[in-house]
Amino acid sequence: MPATHGGQVHEWARMHSRDVNEVLDFSANIHPFGPPDGVWQAIHTALPQIRHYPDASHRRVREVLGRRLSVDPERIVCGNGAVEAMECVLRVWRPRRVVVLEPAFGEYAAIARRFGIPVASVTMWTEQTYRHGPSLHAAAAAPIRPGDAVCFNHPHNPSGFAWPRSAWEGLVRTWLDAGAFVLVDESFMDFLADEAEYTALALGEHPRLAVVRSATKIFAIPGLRFGYAVVSPDVARRVAEERDPWSVNTLAQAAAAAAYLEDEFLRETRHWLAQERARLDAAWREALPAWDRLPGQVNFYTVRLPSQAMARAMARRLAEQGILVRLCGSFTGLSDAVWRLAIRSPEENDRLLDALRRLAVE
Ligand SMILES: Cc1ncc(COP(=O)(O)O)c(C=O)c1O
Repeated sequence: MPATHGGQVHEWARMHSRDVNEVLDFSANIHPFGPPDGVWQAIHTALPQIRHYPDASHRRVREVLGRRLSVDPERIVCGNGAVEAMECVLRVWRPRRVVVLEPAFGEYAAIARRFGIPVASVTMWTEQTYRHGPSLHAAAAAPIRPGDAVCFNHPHNPSGFAWPRSAWEGLVRTWLDAGAFVLVDESFMDFLADEAEYTALALGEHPRLAVVRSATKIFAIPGLRFGYAVVSPDVARRVAEERDPWSVNTLAQAAAAAAYLEDEFLRETRHWLAQERARLDAAWREALPAWDRLPGQVNFYTVRLPSQAMARAMARRLAEQGILVRLCGSFTGLSDAVWRLAIRSPEENDRLLDALRRLAVE
């Protein structure tokens, strides 16, 4: 069965009888230098509180987020990861259909299936159009009806593409004017240096608009889990009535409240990423010029290998060396010839390139 998500590190450890900490994982897009010290400290400090139920109102972390984003904390829905935040919003919206712009993160359709909501797919990008990246024009051609919920993933997974607001604001407003719901999944937005020019938070409050972000990638806490949605106060109130009150545990709340105060960590991250992305562009051109590489704009990128058979064989050989890559065959429109790769530390990125160079000449 093809993996529908990256980060299959536990499966790798079981299969190779190794420890999960020995893996070098390029298949999930997690910050290689996190979590920041303040987050470790906050978790440590909060440990004795696990003898109590978590704060079901998520008050502290919502206050921190409200200040950070300049939005009313009453508009913030916290989740056990961005996926739970999305699930909470879709449960309250109850759309007629969930419209997925493919290829897309698999959980939009999975949540819809859990709620018995039909899924409509709209193709933005395929292997044939690989070099152009995902097309907003293709997304604009989607027939959107009142009551649909459009899931717009931005920056886009798996391409890593992001578009300034001027490129898509009209489209999102058209969807809203047509009576649709719009869920903008900005789970990778915090990696963008000039996020203010890209984020849908600038569109302001609308009862059918939700902007979702994740702490799990940028602060490297996928195992602890925290994400949130910014919605209208009314939707947030209804979510509170319909959800599991304790799904966001005490340690996750403490970690997130500390994480979203880490301005210096975010500044350093964006600085490091700009440098490493430029270095990787040159390193890839030199090491494997025959592979199509699309750099994207955040902390991951894609490459297209000469064939699917070669891509699968190489991924297997890499896994034997403890290196995981994300084969994209489970994304609608793409095959396993396309890989998605996280940007890790310079040493780790070089280790991947060295391994690939050696395998490519075998
Ligand atoms: C686009 C996108 N949104 C959301 C998520 C999940 O985020 P979380 O771990 O916060 O649930 C992922 C994870 O890969 C993702 O790629």
